[in-house]
Order: sequence, then structure tokens, then C-alpha cells
Amino acid sequence: MICVSKKKSYLKSQNLKIFGQGKLNGRVKISGAKNSALVLLAASLLTNERIILENVPRLTDIEKMGNILKNLGVNLVDKNNKIEIDSKNISVKELPYELVNGLRASFFCIGALLSKFGEAKVPLPGGCNIGSRPIDEHINGLKALGAEILIEEEIVKAKIKGKKNKLYGTDIKLKCPSVGATETLIMAASLAEGRTTIENAAREPEIQDLCQMLNKMGAKIYDAGKEKIIIDGVNKLGGCTHKVIPDRIEAGTFLIAAAATSSSITISPVIPIHLEAVTNKLQESGSKITIKGNSIKIKGKEIKGVDIDTAPYPGFPTDLQAPFTALMTIANGESRITETIFENRMNHIHLLKKMGASIKLNKNVAYIKGVKTIKGMDLVGSDLRSSAALIIAGIIAKGISKVYGLEHLDRGYENFESKLKMLGIKIAREFNKRTLTRSECKIDSEPKEIIDLRVA
Ligand code: UD1
Repeated sequence: MICVSKKKSYLKSQNLKIFGQGKLNGRVKISGAKNSALVLLAASLLTNERIILENVPRLTDIEKMGNILKNLGVNLVDKNNKIEIDSKNISVKELPYELVNGLRASFFCIGALLSKFGEAKVPLPGGCNIGSRPIDEHINGLKALGAEILIEEEIVKAKIKGKKNKLYGTDIKLKCPSVGATETLIMAASLAEGRTTIENAAREPEIQDLCQMLNKMGAKIYDAGKEKIIIDGVNKLGGCTHKVIPDRIEAGTFLIAAAATSSSITISPVIPIHLEAVTNKLQESGSKITIKGNSIKIKGKEIKGVDIDTAPYPGFPTDLQAPFTALMTIANGESRITETIFENRMNHIHLLKKMGASIKLNKNVAYIKGVKTIKGMDLVGSDLRSSAALIIAGIIAKGISKVYGLEHLDRGYENFESKLKMLGIKIAREFNKRTLTRSECKIDSEPKEIIDLRVA
């Protein structure tokens, strides 16, 4: 099933042409973290003073979030990976559907808007209204903080009860450690009256980054990165300058690409501890990893099959499951990849199989028997991380591959092909004169049973 809204943009007039059996060599600069930057932009709504965000990656998701803020009345100046945000003239507390569509992180604005203005209207996130990325944890937490919430015509309408127009601190226990819900509730609680505790909170580095920025703004948040976060509400938050942390998922993607091609590269800047689960698995599969300060050097060698189970941080990130699967297709021996966070995040499997990989998929578990080589072909990425996986597969493969569906890739990887090119990969973006229609395009991209998910 493909979302109706998605069909239109499904095959854009661009593709990446990749000459296979490439090798990577040299150093690559890692950009700021997309998932951090998105939530930090939302958090900037909490103050009337100026926020300066540095190291913001230039991505279509960030541009979309910027447009959402501008639509609220925020003055936003974007220059060379630095964004200056001035939210003092916000007049609207409602996010328009056209801008929100397809950007799940836009929903995270609800906590900041509600807490600062006492009301917020935010459309349900994502283009596909599928059940597997619910928002119940966000809603239940906001209700516990004292909000009245109504969902009407796919719009979440939140309002603070009572004359004081304040949320009230309380004890919240999340059913699952949702990244987005933890972020929404931290933002909401930072201006609430009294103490809020969030138990079973997500511990992802992006949450720690958010708390660090909020604390610079004057918030009182303790134990970010632990399972129980404590937030003492304050009356007002001020401005600050904050540098977005490096993108651990982009970093991991390059490491996996190097491992898959037995190459040697150095990535920086990174916070190596953020990548520990990934570097451990790469080491287990035969790569040599050297960590020095804020850089990681990988020397890919023989690839051994290893199993991974995705898990909330500090476990193996779901966002790197697809790239790691591409690596395992040519490993020596067998491996088992288990996706535990999202249902249907296996969109890349059938394409890897078409390229010659030997994979049996049983629900969310992929059983892989490594093959010597896979072959290049035309492919369509159907979500951000599976697109990255297909590009890695194209680099490994014998022959030429063309990867379409770049609207997904451009959401989350800054200058991906330029960086790969600098590392020695023969890759070029081709611009077709006209957009292909689905019927014209003989690329079998999705079996019927695969539901398209806008993940990441
Ligand atoms: C964020 C990241 C995404 C990453 C994911 C997991 C952003 C913009 N995106 O997404 O790249 O893959 O974390 O690391 O930061 N859930 C509920 N109820 C809720 C919310 C979530 O049951 O109210 C479930 C989801 O269905 C999923 C799991 O919790 O199974 C994790 O989702 P969550 O951590 O919320 O992911 P996002 O914040 O959407």
C-alpha cells in the first residue's frame, strides 16, 4: 500500500547513479544531528529571546520545520548552518496541515506551544496515518500535566484548563521510552508549575542535547540521559547560543559503508560514546576501530556475519538497521537482524534480494546468508534510512545502480553524495528532463504487503 499523498512525489526527476565496487578513502566531516536540530527548533518557541543554533544541517526536514516556525510568526534567519530564531512575535498557535504533512517532528511543537501560550492545535503527524507510530504517550503525558485534549478531524487540539494558564508538574511513567514523547513532555514541563518526573524516559543523545540547551535557557532539568528525568518548572526561559551535536546516524552510515567496502576512513567530529553500540558490532564483524578524541577511524577487513537487535539508546539504533543489513548481505556466514522498534521497517529487504542477496524475512526478523557479491540495478528508496541502505548496496554491487526516491534521502543526509564522492566513490546525481510516472517506471519497488512508513 502506498499513501495517496506519496504517490505524487514518489518518483522525482532525480536519481543517484552509482558505479559499484567502489572503495572509500580519507576523512569525512559529520554534520549536525537532524533529530537534535528539529527538536531544538521546536524548543526555541519556549522563549521570547533570541536563540542561535549552530551546526544545523541543511536538509529538507530542517527547511520544513523552519517554514512551520515562520508560519507561526517566528523570525528566522538561516545562514551557513547557523539559524537565528526570534519567537517573540508569535501570533498563531496552530500548525497548518500542508506544512506539517510528512514531518513527524513537527508534532513535537505541541509541548512548547501549549506550555508557553496555553493552547496549541497540531495536525496528527506523518502523511500516512498508520497505527505503528502512535502519539498516545505524548497525549497522556500532556493530559497528566493538566491539558485538555481533543482530537477532531485529525487535528490535536490542546488547551490548558484553569485561570492560571499553567501546566502543573506531575509524575509521568511512559509505557515505552518514546524519544518524541520524552521531548514533548520535557518542553511542556519546563514552564509548568512545580516538579515533573518522567520515568522510563528515552535516553537518546538528542534528548540530552535538548536538555542541555533548555538548561542554558534557564530551565531546571536534571538527569537527562537517565531513565528518570526530573524537571523543575520555571516561569520564563531566556535566549542562548547552542551547537547541535554531531549526527550519530550519519556517522554510523559512513562507518558501515566503509566496512562494507573493506575501506579505511576517518569520521569527525563525532561523540564516540554515542556510537558505541554500532562500533561494537562493526568490530565484532571484523572491522578495526580506532577512537581518538572526537574522531573514529575504521579499517574494514573481512566481514563476518553478526546478529543485531535494534533497541532504544544505548542499544543498536533502529535508524542504522537498514544500512547494517546492506553490510550483512556480503558477510561471511549468516546473520539475523531483528527490528524491535518499528513494525514494517524492512522496506529495503526485497530490493536487496533482487540485487542477489540471500535473505528470508519473517515479520521483523531478517535471516541473511552472506553472498560473495550483489549486482547493481535500478532501485527506489521508500524511506530515509532504507534509501541510505540502497546506496551502500549500490556501492558494494557489481555494475551500475540508479537509486530513485531521493526526496527521502535529502530529508536526512547533508551532501551525502558529495561526501561519498570526496571519499572516492563514483556517484552522480542525474536530473531527468521530466518526472517519471509510476506506470512508466519499470522498477518494482514495493511488494503489496509492504506498507510505506515515513520513518526517521
Ligand atoms: C525518533 C526519531 C527517529 C528514530 C526513533 C527511535 C526524530 C525526529 N525521530 O522518532 O529517527 O527512529 O526516534 O529511535 O527524533 N510510541 C508509542 N506511543 C507514542 C510514541 C511512540 O507507542 O506516543 C512507540 C512507537 O510506535 C515506536 C516506539 O515508541 O514503536 C519508538 O518511537 P519514538 O521513540 O517515539 O520515535 P519518534 O520520536 O517518532
